[in-house]
Amino acid sequence: HRTPGYEMVVPLCINVVLSVVGFGVVLRAIPALSSMFIDAGLFGRDLCKADRTKKVPESMGMVSGTVFLVMMFLFLGVPFGQHFITSSKPFPHAAFSEYLTSLLSICCMLFLGFADDVLNLKWRYKLVLPTLASLPLLMVYYINQGSTTVVVPRLLRAWMGGTLNIGVLYYIYMSMLAVFCTNAINIYAGINGLESGQAVVVGASVAVFNMIELGGFQAKSHFFSLCVIIPFTITSLGLFIHNRYPAKAFVGDTFTYFAGMTFAVVAIIGHFSKTVLLFFIPQIFNFLYSVPQLFHFVPCPRHRLPQYNKKLDKLEPSVVEFRDTSVQWQVMAALRLLKYLRLVHLEEGVGEDGKLCRVNNLTLVNLVLVLIGPQHEGSLTTKLLVIQGLCSGLALFIRYPLADLFF
Ligand code: UD1
Ligand code: MG
Repeated sequence: HRTPGYEMVVPLCINVVLSVVGFGVVLRAIPALSSMFIDAGLFGRDLCKADRTKKVPESMGMVSGTVFLVMMFLFLGVPFGQHFITSSKPFPHAAFSEYLTSLLSICCMLFLGFADDVLNLKWRYKLVLPTLASLPLLMVYYINQGSTTVVVPRLLRAWMGGTLNIGVLYYIYMSMLAVFCTNAINIYAGINGLESGQAVVVGASVAVFNMIELGGFQAKSHFFSLCVIIPFTITSLGLFIHNRYPAKAFVGDTFTYFAGMTFAVVAIIGHFSKTVLLFFIPQIFNFLYSVPQLFHFVPCPRHRLPQYNKKLDKLEPSVVEFRDTSVQWQVMAALRLLKYLRLVHLEEGVGEDGKLCRVNNLTLVNLVLVLIGPQHEGSLTTKLLVIQGLCSGLALFIRYPLADLFF
């Protein structure tokens, strides 16, 4: 393990200073621009509040995203500009093109997320668009002879050798990663501060991981990842401050897509596209848990966020009702199994004719409410973010002591 040299430490310090400036800009710009967004029709109703008439400006991810990009453009001269002053080696064109295409992919997703907020795109486009936005980056990865080999676990080495080149599958995996990250964040949402909060926690966790790896043999890749993830996390923190309970701004799909793409991009340029998924444990769980509704085995309403209980001023799990004959028996069997495992709240034989089933909407937010009972919105977000943080601790444990046993 080496200590990172001044050629990394100095740019990183400048990066942090720029990010803090960005944080201040986001903090002030959001209230200043709120009425402009509302006038343009970009607002939503806070569904977990007693008063649902208030207009909350939506798509505020546009503000933090724009500030992030501006900071990235300003920073560009620092790691690459110093090359002309201090180094006699040839200019690092490969790294430079990776850096620029990363910004292109992120910028693309910010734009597409905004289009989704304005136009309410269909689900199929939500899957196709991130794939397309990742293409420029994959192209550069290919040109720069990015590695497509994976390390084989010890147990299988006798048969498969130490590493395995999976070629084109690796590219498919990387574009799927972009689709997964964007949508996984978007569907783990619905209460104040959760979308932006999870992005801040995941961002900070990725930054810690990069810092640990800064002394390793892939130091350069992790350095570039840090240069992107630090401004992202700090500007998102500015957004979180307005988005947390009681929300004065909604982040919109602009932010969820932009955030997801940023994670996918840093994982690709930082060469940790498998490790990054370890920081998405709650999102992966939420996605798997949502599968019956996402694929319409169980009806999926437009909004699955929790139900507000006015008397208690707390949130309760929201439910979906359907006729037991309207779903396949395998689905009912799976739901009963989940009920046995205490993973859903399922009631059968309800309704006037006793033929309705009632099940909580299959999201992690609702599941937590099923397990620990009704919660105040603000404290529910805090608990979910603490879970996210604990999962990051688990991720680092899996990545270091545990992975050493298997790899
Ligand atoms: C995703 C979820 C949906 C969830 C929604 C909430 C799936 C398949 N989709 O849809 O179930 O209800 O996110 O973000 O899981 N809102 C609040 N409070 C908040 C955040 C959002 O009330 O703290 C409401 C507002 O009315 C806001 C709207 O949600 O206008 C934004 O929803 P949008 O991001 O458009 O929903 P989707 O991403 O399509
Ligand atoms: Mg959304």
